[in-house]
Amino acid sequence: MFDHAKWISPAVDYGRACPVFRKQFSAKAVKKATLAVTALGIYAAKLNGERVGDYVFAPGWTQYEKRLQYQQYDVTEMIREQNEISVTVGEGWMRGEINANFRPERDGTDQFKCAVPAGVLAELTLEYADGSREIIATDENWETAKTGILFSSIYNGETYEAGVVPTDFVAAKPIDPTLLPGFELIPQQGEKIIEQDRIAAAKLIITPKGEKVIDFGQNLTGYVEFTVNAKKGDVIRFHHGEVLDKNGNFYNENYREADAKFEYICAEGEQTYHAQFAFYGFRYICIESWPGEPKAENFTAIVVCSDIRRIGKLECSAPLVQKLFDNIFWGQRCNFLDVPTDCPQRDERLGWTGDAQVFVRTASYNYDVEKFFEKWLCDVEASRGRYGMPDNVVPRVWNGETASAAWGDVCCIVPWTIYQTYGNAELLRRNFNLMKDWVDAIGKVTHDEFLWTGCEHFGDWLGLDAEPGSYTGSSRKDFIASAFYIYSTSLVIKAGMELGEDVGRFEKLYEKVLAKFRETFTDYRTQTEHVLALHFGITTEPEKTAASLADMIRKNGTALATGFVGTPYLLHVLSSNGYTELAYDLFVREKFPSWLNQVKLGATTMWEHWDNIREDGEFWSKDMNSFNHYAYGSVADWIYEVACGIKPAKPGFAEAVIAPKPDARLGRLFASIDTRHGQISSGWTYANGQFRYEIETPVKTAITIDGKTKVVNAGKYIFYSK
Ligand code: BGC
Repeated sequence: MFDHAKWISPAVDYGRACPVFRKQFSAKAVKKATLAVTALGIYAAKLNGERVGDYVFAPGWTQYEKRLQYQQYDVTEMIREQNEISVTVGEGWMRGEINANFRPERDGTDQFKCAVPAGVLAELTLEYADGSREIIATDENWETAKTGILFSSIYNGETYEAGVVPTDFVAAKPIDPTLLPGFELIPQQGEKIIEQDRIAAAKLIITPKGEKVIDFGQNLTGYVEFTVNAKKGDVIRFHHGEVLDKNGNFYNENYREADAKFEYICAEGEQTYHAQFAFYGFRYICIESWPGEPKAENFTAIVVCSDIRRIGKLECSAPLVQKLFDNIFWGQRCNFLDVPTDCPQRDERLGWTGDAQVFVRTASYNYDVEKFFEKWLCDVEASRGRYGMPDNVVPRVWNGETASAAWGDVCCIVPWTIYQTYGNAELLRRNFNLMKDWVDAIGKVTHDEFLWTGCEHFGDWLGLDAEPGSYTGSSRKDFIASAFYIYSTSLVIKAGMELGEDVGRFEKLYEKVLAKFRETFTDYRTQTEHVLALHFGITTEPEKTAASLADMIRKNGTALATGFVGTPYLLHVLSSNGYTELAYDLFVREKFPSWLNQVKLGATTMWEHWDNIREDGEFWSKDMNSFNHYAYGSVADWIYEVACGIKPAKPGFAEAVIAPKPDARLGRLFASIDTRHGQISSGWTYANGQFRYEIETPVKTAITIDGKTKVVNAGKYIFYSK
């Protein structure tokens, strides 16, 4: 591929405006025409004025120093006798402020200068009906001009001047290969990014401050399409926000440095537009400038995310719980935009590994994310630095030497979980080195052999037992790090057993790290410490540890105090150690801190912090206060696996277990997953003092109800219990 094409860039400095690259050519009758294309930045290709494909923000986000995807499109139907191919290029993830590796340098003004030029590599292969072949490839015979996209930046939004028809075309120049990031070109590996949904504006609000705000009724990721009738030169400007403040005014201080602005200079007459190379996380837009009076019907939000297929369903008759489920699915859609991001709105939107690790099980039941994670795991691999550790954010955008515990453990947790859900042993095999190397790397960087001490860690991030002014819960960092060392080692052993690999070295290591941990940490001081000791099989007295955890939770007002590290396992350890009712107490709790509290306060996606909005209506902080962070949505895996009781007994659900643990307070609960072997579902309804279970399985399944197990074949089953 690309044997004939050269990387080209504009010969003229267009500042931060987006260039278009074009080539005119004539063609004979074609049998087949294929366009292969990629860019330094993100591109939109057109043939004869028509958009090629529906991929948004191609070529996607990878670890650009190592890997750059290209896409191939069948354009047979688009070829005419006289043709023009054009490719417009925005900064995207490679050249914008988001990518510190290629971060544009400030030149003393507030202007950025990209270290890498806008570039295109394209090859159009025309196979003619007469059997001949022609290749139109990027070279110095292509031309470039400045487009109406005067500014495009992932964090800071887009400025567009409508009606600008690029005219001042000049010859493109080949890029000096030494200026290119050292990537290998790879065919599209992940899911493409698409416009997945359209949401009409719900209403126009005039806030107490007099701002004109459009409410889409749903926090989401994407951009706003609008239609306007305007005079040439009229200006439209709006800002994005996720929430209104306690007085009902527009608010987006929580976006921090991300400007998230959209600006548009109108052409004459009726026109429709949406940002092309920027995306935003928002529920509201505040209209600062608009010709005449804006109306809600002028605006539609377009949801942009990876093209992942929904395979999970969660239903509950309790409306707040149902809304929580909906929010969890939304949280995933909003943050699965080529890489699993922490959030889609502020000046991060990064592939934080810890968040992905926390959420991957839920993610894999909600949507088919095998291909999505397969690609991202290659970037995890490609992000590895000195010691072989990946970065805390993947793709790496800065250069940390060691990764935080529970973040870097993504190397083991993600391949193992994806294997459990989808059963693809090849994926596990391809990542087995990554898993082993992670565990080995801990051995290299730790200050004390067989523990993980020293190094920088995020600890139980955002745990509620944090000291005032700290983001980190009070669980000991060395405790968490050493506990994850044990856990990841255990996953390497399990993976090795599945793959038929020698695990002798890791079995020995496991014994040592477990023994050293037990010798070093003789007590558990926080909820999260208890949770890890139970979930990772560290405690020698699970009954006592569980009782102590339950006691701690009750003394805390039957409330959790866990952060990113403890929360995902909290309900699991309670329900698997005889405290299912207490797990439900936490789950159905409506007061702060809880999952349902944010729903009661109007959440439409998952919040980053347990009290993003406090009871007095104030925000917890403006600094770490995303309203679209999926991490705490990981509670859904407890709903699938425990409350409804569906688990794979063999990888990929080749066999299953269904062992629901119901609670009358929820009324009716239902979960289903479209597995690689077919649809599996488990639901229960409480009525007249009894639970009625409806179960459907496509495979041999051990169903356990009230402690009694029956092994059944594929089929539909109804059971009752008291
Ligand atoms: C991100 C988190 C991330 C964390 C690391 C934050 O700024 O938004 O979700 O995991 O940093 O501690």
